[in-house]
Amino acid sequence: MAAGYQTSSAGQFKTSADIVPSDALVFFGATGDLAYKKIFPALQNMVRRDSLSVPVVGVAKSGWTLEQLRARARESLSQHGGGVDEAAFGKLVQRLQYIDGDYQDPATYQQLRKALGDAKGPAHYLAIPPSLFGTVVEGLGRSGCAENARVIIEKPFGRDLASAQALNATLGSVFPENKIFRIDHYLGKEAVENLLFFRFANTFLEPIWNRNYVHSVQITMAEKFGVAGRGKFYDETGAIRDVVQNHLLQVLAFLAMEPLTLTYHESLRDEVVKVLRMMPALQPADLVRGQFRGYLKEPGVSPNSHVETFAAVRLRIDSWRWAGVPFVVRAGKCLPMTATEVLVKLRQAPISRLGPAQGNYLRFRLSPEVSISLGARVKRPGPQMVSMPAELTAVKQDRGDDIDPYERLLTDAMHGDALLFVRSDAVEAAWAIVEPILGNATPLFDYEPGTWGPMEADGLATEIGGWHSPQAVS
Ligand code: BG6
Repeated sequence: MAAGYQTSSAGQFKTSADIVPSDALVFFGATGDLAYKKIFPALQNMVRRDSLSVPVVGVAKSGWTLEQLRARARESLSQHGGGVDEAAFGKLVQRLQYIDGDYQDPATYQQLRKALGDAKGPAHYLAIPPSLFGTVVEGLGRSGCAENARVIIEKPFGRDLASAQALNATLGSVFPENKIFRIDHYLGKEAVENLLFFRFANTFLEPIWNRNYVHSVQITMAEKFGVAGRGKFYDETGAIRDVVQNHLLQVLAFLAMEPLTLTYHESLRDEVVKVLRMMPALQPADLVRGQFRGYLKEPGVSPNSHVETFAAVRLRIDSWRWAGVPFVVRAGKCLPMTATEVLVKLRQAPISRLGPAQGNYLRFRLSPEVSISLGARVKRPGPQMVSMPAELTAVKQDRGDDIDPYERLLTDAMHGDALLFVRSDAVEAAWAIVEPILGNATPLFDYEPGTWGPMEADGLATEIGGWHSPQAVS
């Protein structure tokens, strides 16, 4: 393993001995938006940390030269990568090659084969629209470029269960499942991984982490901004497909899954699938959808779009541990702030005179700040025998302390460590949960930008005592 960086498989999770690092990185979509905003910054950081020392081949069809790609990489780093680190950038551009070719054309893959030289196990990152996955995967297969190789793909993994199954079948026709790395960047977030550690590296939580002590679980993923120039993409996607089916169900799975065994490498991913399969498919009555006023005027958005920019859902987990515990999740654009937070309320203490109902909770701030806090009641100082709330903070991390999820996940994929990637059965299980609520399954309510979504969503949270809204961190 490269110095200075430990992949997620290091330590407790490492059980698979046959992992061989990739010896080249190919990225399709080299001139695109994702490469510009996320991949070049991740690559510069990987070079900096000595975790990328292999040839990097960009592929796209833009009529560009290598010089142009280098210039684009430089611009990407100054705009999105925290600046150009000349030493690391120098090394990166030395390793960078560029193939300008049509993804339909067999000659593109022959050029790629040549560019790969002696590489025996490249990683192919498909930073391209999903409609092109099939073409590129087949091109890689036919040209021999897929031999012993890995493939890394981005969400969205399909638009519904059937298209996800078709996509998995396409990928599976060329790559075995253990060579397919599906990125959900939430799994590369330190705070999300910390949910596992906080739950399973401690003894105090497990005895209460069940229906006997947990009153309810809620997750809010609020974003202050709107569709931020991605109107066309967003209007084909909507909040449920964009963040609920993937990021938020993965977070929920980490919160609700059974303990890992750590005796075999797939234990984590097996537990994720198990808990997703215990969540019954959502029904229209479990959903409230909203659209912020002004959305229809966003560039790229259809003037009579019925796509939701806000979704709130009420889930159940039919398991021995969670039967009867409400899980509610909401996500929206143009809300009052940007923050993702989980609140796990504990049941009321029996001597309620000493404190109001539900004084105890665990609060996990996942983004943009990171914190884990335990809500408790303590005595208010003074002559009166009354309690007041207090928060004990277990973890507090400032923004920017953690490694960027893309760097983290790309490094893991290059090392062949699939722990934090979404397996095909998990993708399909998550689609099965949201399948009945996709499209126009329910009415769409307007909401004013800067509010917490449509009032109708309050009804979903009545039984848990209302939504908890994250607070700004000073
Ligand atoms: C992406 C969604 O997957 O996640 C975006 O497509 C969303 O709509 C983003 O804004 C949120 O990610 P983060 O890391 O900023 O919370």
